Amino acid sequence: MSDINPILSSSAQSIAAYQDAIEQSTQAVVAWLQQPEMYQGKTVEQLRERIQLSFTSQGLGNQVAIERAVEYFLKDSLSVHHAQCVAHLHCPSLVISQAAEVLINATNQSMDSWDQSPSATIIEMKLIEWLRQQVGYTAGDAGVFTSGGTQSNLMGLMLARDAFFARQGHSVQQHGLTGDLSKIKVLCSENAHFSVQKNMALMGLGYQSVTLVKTDAFSRMDLSDLSTKLAQADANGEQVLSIVATAGTTDAGAIDPLAEIAAMAAERHIWLHVDAAWGGALLLSEQYRHYLDGLELADSVTLDFHKQFFQTISCGAFLLKDARHYELMRYQAAYLNSGFDEEQGVPNLVSKSLQTTRRFDALKLWMGLEALGKKQYAEIIDNGVTLAQQVAQFVTEQPQLELVMQPQLASVLFRFRPESGDAAAVALLNQRIGDALLASGSANVGVTESDGVTCLKLTLLNPTVCLADVKLLLESVKACALQLLKA
Ligand SMILES: Cc1ncc(COP(=O)(O)O)c(C=O)c1O
Repeated sequence: MSDINPILSSSAQSIAAYQDAIEQSTQAVVAWLQQPEMYQGKTVEQLRERIQLSFTSQGLGNQVAIERAVEYFLKDSLSVHHAQCVAHLHCPSLVISQAAEVLINATNQSMDSWDQSPSATIIEMKLIEWLRQQVGYTAGDAGVFTSGGTQSNLMGLMLARDAFFARQGHSVQQHGLTGDLSKIKVLCSENAHFSVQKNMALMGLGYQSVTLVKTDAFSRMDLSDLSTKLAQADANGEQVLSIVATAGTTDAGAIDPLAEIAAMAAERHIWLHVDAAWGGALLLSEQYRHYLDGLELADSVTLDFHKQFFQTISCGAFLLKDARHYELMRYQAAYLNSGFDEEQGVPNLVSKSLQTTRRFDALKLWMGLEALGKKQYAEIIDNGVTLAQQVAQFVTEQPQLELVMQPQLASVLFRFRPESGDAAAVALLNQRIGDALLASGSANVGVTESDGVTCLKLTLLNPTVCLADVKLLLESVKACALQLLKA
């Protein structure tokens, strides 16, 4: 082995190497933050050609490895903090979240057992208790931090499935799936996140198990169609194991009518899971918290802090209303969460998670809440929602632009309308506008479909962005469109 110990440890040499590496990386980040471009504009082919791995027998050493990462990764990264980077539910991060990452990474705690993360385990449990209070659940700590919305939705659907079979005296955990699986359905709106389909496929029930409920003019689940779909399921001899409502659809930010859906689910003893990956941010809102009324009625909830809570990726949570349902995924591993530990009251969070080894992402939310305080947190969340309303108003005043839907959270769906051109040509033009802006490195605008209409999307999470920034961006959209029309 070489003389230099590469492990982070208490030795003076390791601590010096750590400080050097962090200092070098931090300085590179500072320079990158000041790059004026949102993106350097390289194409897929250019990056493929440019990025070459260099694994040598002797190793390059920390300094050169960092220099290479700066050159080939950092400089060509997307500046998510840039005012014109508004394509996705992809947030700029809090400074305190960066500080938390330093602590999370250096300590490398693992959340599966208490003996691998003593203080971290307790902090995560207290945060789950706090989140439950925000949702309006009863006191308790049923819930866990996750890698994000997809995993939280999987937990909701999996427990819904297993609770459904358990009511019929069958343990999926022990014996697997049984019966005519083609008759088992999950209902969600046409605008629910695709992770519902992916998770149902993963759970052995296939995409066929997902019945899509129509949406209203604002992309919200249509209650009369929900009622029709439930009646049709009965008539077809199908059994609905869960209704998945969305609080904040990915594009329109639509919030399904939670209380009404909850009442319909309760009447039929159907598990209600609410995917509040985006809209869950309104838990902290001063102006818009009431949009989430009814969330407390859900059997399980998805929250995502790497969206409008401005935490670094990854950071999500799953909340379970009735802790007894955790029994459905109970597994005891002698080395992690033994019966002996349980009798002693030792909390080993592996019992609550699909993951075994797991990052201490909860620290970011804890430090974020402490650093900002609830008021400032509320302000930066509300800012996006209010800005989207102002931008929508401005779009309606522009003759060449068309607002596709009134905003509900912090997104604006619109399109460029040329004077002539059929639907396909307008769709292609808007797609090309999005591509051309990214290729120029100046802006990242989303391209999506709303009710079959190809449109552009601004996801206005960034609280440092103001109406003037968005007006500039819309000018670029128009200029780009006119150029494409000329070409
Ligand atoms: C409504 C909704 N649910 C779930 C997800 C998936 O979340 P994640 O990317 O954290 O897995 C997304 C992602 O954008 C989303 O918009």
